[in-house]
Amino acid sequence: KTYRIAVIPGDGIGVEVMPEALRTLDVVSKRFDIDFEYQHIEWASCDYYLKHGKMMPDDWKQQLSSVDAILFGAVGWPATVPDHISLWGSLLKFRREFDQYINLRPARLFEGVPCPLANRKAGDIDFMIVRENTEGEYSSVGGVMYEGTEREVVMQQSIFSRFGTERVLKFAFDLAQRREKKITVATKSNGIAISMPWWDARAAEVAALYPEVAVDKQHIDILCARFVMSPDRFDVVVASNLFGDILSDLGPACTGTIGLAPSGNLNPERKFPSLFEPVHGSAPDIAGKNIANPVAMIWSAAMMVDFLGGNVAGPERDAHDAIVAAIEDVLKHGPHTGDLGGKASTTEVGRAISERLAGA
Ligand code: NAI
Ligand code: MG
Repeated sequence: KTYRIAVIPGDGIGVEVMPEALRTLDVVSKRFDIDFEYQHIEWASCDYYLKHGKMMPDDWKQQLSSVDAILFGAVGWPATVPDHISLWGSLLKFRREFDQYINLRPARLFEGVPCPLANRKAGDIDFMIVRENTEGEYSSVGGVMYEGTEREVVMQQSIFSRFGTERVLKFAFDLAQRREKKITVATKSNGIAISMPWWDARAAEVAALYPEVAVDKQHIDILCARFVMSPDRFDVVVASNLFGDILSDLGPACTGTIGLAPSGNLNPERKFPSLFEPVHGSAPDIAGKNIANPVAMIWSAAMMVDFLGGNVAGPERDAHDAIVAAIEDVLKHGPHTGDLGGKASTTEVGRAISERLAGA
């Protein structure tokens, strides 16, 4: 079986961690008989922007039309290109135009990783955040009036469609059904008194279709507190775009380092390619030194393989599980990069994971 993958390293440490993901996939090909055909892409980077005045060529969508998935490093180099240009000109276009309406982010505490929370050990934290990825609070609808006068006002709309809300809820309940059969629904219906009660009503409707799944509704403020105080109680958490964004930075922060956190931007219907990327950005402060943690990138590649196999039993699922097992092993025994208190380079950690995966 051969999958076509667009490889977009982007900027900064994206360029350094991507080769480690490809190294891992090479071993997957050998061990599991799954082949990857790569389309290496140098656009969607700030270097490309500096040369061409745009982040991507006009026919970017066409160029990516035949790929099965996109493996993405990170984009952004604020010293030369403002972040809203680099992000809205690349990643956010993929998410919207490829209708990647699910942002799936696992948070898990591994053995060998120092946990910033007291009294937590490996296995205590293991949950999935399902974030709505295309609408909600992140709309571009709004504007400023009477600018520069004493009557200046600004307004930005949140947009929740019935279609968009129901589909993210259904995805999350399906996931909960396959896992521990419990779900936490993030809300703020006490404060945001129009759209959030409406979101709750959609959640209640979808919940009725999944009688086996226990539903826990929580206001976003106390939910953040509970992520820190009792992260062990969560399994699947579903949230709007903004709330999901906040929770999915907080979740990995509770499990040690952003250098471990992977994500999938999914179009579950597979009408368009899905995109897999680490949660972290281009990390200009450590870029170019070969010291970034490659685990988030490698784990993202594992999620991609599982998704390509349809998230069901088969060689792709086996390959995913084997990559995660190799990551677990390397986190437990080392080598570790600096964010985990070690001295190993990006390459050394990537090689160690590949060697464990190869059975060495
Ligand atoms: P960042 O995630 O790049 O870095 C935050 C902190 O975490 C830094 O101290 C960095 O050194 C550290 N860090 C991040 N990844 C690491 C890794 N793999 N190993 C070890 N340490 C790691 O976030 P920041 O600094 O806010 O943004 C930098 C640039 O990245 C900006 O241009 C921003 O817009 C962009 N960005 C891009 C994202 C994407 O492509 N999906 C996501 C977040 C930020
Ligand atoms: Mg974020």
